[in-house]
Amino acid sequence: MNDTAVSTELYYFSGTGNSLVVARDIARKINGKLISIPSVMDKESIKIDADVVGIVFPAYYMRMPGIVERFINKLTNLQDKYIFAIVTVGGIAGSVLYRLSEAISERGGSLNSGFIVRMPANYIDNADALPLFLQKRMFRNWNRKAHKIASAINTGKSGLMTRFNPVMTLLFSRYIDKQYSRGELSPDIDKSFWTDSKCNGCGICLRVCPVRNIELVDDRPVWQHHCEKCLACIQWCPKEAIQFRNVTMKRKRYHHPDVKVSDVLKWNE
Ligand SMILES: Cc1cc2nc3c(=O)[nH]c(=O)nc-3n(C[C@H](O)[C@H](O)[C@H](O)COP(=O)(O)O)c2cc1C
Ligand code: SF4
Ligand code: SF4
Repeated sequence: MNDTAVSTELYYFSGTGNSLVVARDIARKINGKLISIPSVMDKESIKIDADVVGIVFPAYYMRMPGIVERFINKLTNLQDKYIFAIVTVGGIAGSVLYRLSEAISERGGSLNSGFIVRMPANYIDNADALPLFLQKRMFRNWNRKAHKIASAINTGKSGLMTRFNPVMTLLFSRYIDKQYSRGELSPDIDKSFWTDSKCNGCGICLRVCPVRNIELVDDRPVWQHHCEKCLACIQWCPKEAIQFRNVTMKRKRYHHPDVKVSDVLKWNE
């Protein structure tokens, strides 16, 4: 895999920057081309010409985000490629890599290696942002792990390298599955989003949305009900004016500190 003739593409999806940082760091280490998933979703099909393909995204309720599933379903020419995935999680990955592996097989490819990376959880509807010292500890862990993952990819290692904790998974999967079946990932979950009086009509929320799900009407966001629940609009609003149900008013916002709003605008272009 160290051969300079090997071409590598790294596709990523990210709402609050964790997966972008992971994709960016790995792309640098393995000399890969970084491509944001939202930027290619207008294509009917996506033909993979690179020899090595990486896919990086967050776990949503132990599953792939809908946009990642739709992306996989557009892929062609996957035979004989080395395919790897890195999933960022706040705590429990569950079976996300196995689900991804099946989806890639259905497209004629094979998921050669998969990695789980813990990052600060961004689900503000469930919990406050982690204290800074814990966030920093996770970022330090990531810096150590990034070298290992890059060298596993460079040497063409195989296997789903996930530390599967059956007790924690069982404990959390009931809770998470319940949330999922309550419709927390349904496209009209945005009916529970609203703006408070701090909104100044700046329009950043509509520009960070990866699926153009927001319009500004009378200088206020209006959601269009094809939401991915990536939480980008809530977490990047500079006025912290977007609320989810009645649980987020006092909660601290989170995005990865090494990602700026200008990076987000770029990944949606
Ligand atoms: C809708 C939603 C569902 C999530 N579900 C899970 C989950 O099942 N397990 C988990 O460990 N983290 C979960 N998370 C947390 C994210 O996976 C985690 O914070 C991730 O690193 C965010 O990546 P991003 O910054 O690239 O968007 C969820 C986050 C969201 C927004
Ligand atoms: S980003 Fe926040 S302040 Fe700006 S328009 Fe959207 S809700 Fe209003
Ligand atoms: S409306 Fe907000 S949560 Fe939904 S996809 Fe757009 S940015 Fe993400």
